[in-house]
Parts: sequence; structure tokens; C-alpha cells
Amino acid sequence: MVFGGFRAVDGASLSIEEGEIIGLIGPNGAGKSTFFNCLSGDLLPTEGRIRFAGTDVTRATPEAHARLGMARTFQMPVTFEDMSVADNVMVGAFLRHGHRTAARRAADEVLAFTGLDRLAESRAGSLGTPGRKRLEIARALATEPRLLLLDEALAGLTPTEIRAAVELVRRIKARGITIVIVEHIMEVILTLAERAVVFHQGKVIAQGVPREVMEDKAVVAAYLGHHMKRVRQ
Ligand SMILES: Nc1ncnc2c1ncn2[C@@H]1O[C@H](COP(=O)(O)OP(=O)(O)O)[C@@H](O)[C@H]1O
Ligand SMILES: [Mg+2]
Repeated sequence: MVFGGFRAVDGASLSIEEGEIIGLIGPNGAGKSTFFNCLSGDLLPTEGRIRFAGTDVTRATPEAHARLGMARTFQMPVTFEDMSVADNVMVGAFLRHGHRTAARRAADEVLAFTGLDRLAESRAGSLGTPGRKRLEIARALATEPRLLLLDEALAGLTPTEIRAAVELVRRIKARGITIVIVEHIMEVILTLAERAVVFHQGKVIAQGVPREVMEDKAVVAAYLGHHMKRVRQ
């Protein structure tokens, strides 16, 4: 992906297997969000191809991606501030349900699953960071995805909130949903991810078992001068 003359994603290639959790890591500016934007159809890549579930989606709209079963959250949560939490989730549910009652039923199920049920009638704009992050996940889940892309969905949370969010991601995986998660906290990647993929300057520089990848010399060098975040328990 080229912005002006700058290659934000430069020949990065990734194959995602059904049912796995991939941890996508790399220093700030490595191109992780841009890569997600290309995968989800929010950006049209300058070069390259994206195939999802047997279909070439390189030029497909975000809605077409969603219909095929790809959902994502944004690094900066995008919520409809003046709408209720339940109505925000219904925006996702309308993708699969034409009628309001059916969409509301589907949204209620997702609200219960994500623990947002008691906030269902609150104004989305009244939520703090953890609530917004959870609402983004809930809205994505309401589209009934096969693949969920989480872009720093845990950033800005306290250690306790992170543990709750990690548990939620586990339960999402248990539903058979494939997950790619961008996350800076290495403990989260170590506990959740089956495979770590490392981005640096728009390229995949390493991938494999998370613990081994984090000890890889090229990965350590890529992080020099950057912060590899750790949480103390
Ligand atoms: N819309 C854009 N226009 C110009 N440059 C961009 C745009 N989006 C991202 N970039 C640049 O591309 C690089 C990768 O950004 P990003 O994908 O957000 O990285 P990451 O998510 O890994 O931190 C950065 O240098 C960023 O400034
Ligand atoms: Mg990013």
C-alpha cells in the first residue's frame, strides 16, 4: 500500500488458517493497521491481491467483506455516540437480519455474550474506553463473522480489564471464529495467539510460535528504540 511515495505495506503476505488466532505485532508505524484496512476493504491496495474464503475481495467494498464473513474493529473506536449501545450493535445485526425484531434478538444475544447487556440502553457516547472497545467487538460479532480482525482492541485497558477482554477473545474463538489480533502487550500474544506474525516497515519479518518469534534477533532489532510492552500481574 503506497501513500504518496511511501510504502506503508510493502509486499507483506499472510495466509490465515480457519480457526486459528494470529497475533500481529510490530512497532508503531510498521503497517499493521494499513494491512487490516486492505484486508477489510477499507483501503484499496495499490498492488497485490486479497482472497477470502475462496473469493478475490481485493476490490470489494467493506460491506461485501462483511457479507462474506469478515468483521473488524478500529484502533480508534467508531461508535454512534448518540445511539444506545443496543442500537449500535443492531447496526451490525442488520447485515444478517432484515427485520427490526430479529436484529434486536440477535443484538441481545451478542450483548449478553459480551457482557454489555446491562448497558444496552445507555448512550454509546457515555461509555468509557473499556466499554467502547467492547462495543466495537460486539458490533463486529453481530455481523456473524467467520474472521474477526481486532486492531488494538485491548489498548488503554487496565490489567483487570485486559484479563476480562482476553477471556472474551477466548470465548469468541470457542465459537469457531478465526481471529487476527494486533496487540502490543506481549503477554496477551503469548497467552492467546497460536502464531505470531511480525510486521516491520511494511513487511512480514518473522512468524511462528509466539515465544520463539519474540526471541528472534530480527524481531528484537526491529523493536530497538520501541517499547515491547509487558504487564505486571
Ligand atoms: N492514510 C494515510 N496516509 C498517509 N500515510 C499513512 C496513512 N495511514 C498510515 N500511514 C502511514 O503508514 C505507516 C504505517 O501506519 P499504520 O498502518 O497505522 O502502522 P501501525 O498500525 O503498525 O502502527 C505510518 O508511517 C503511517 O504514518
Ligand atoms: Mg495501528
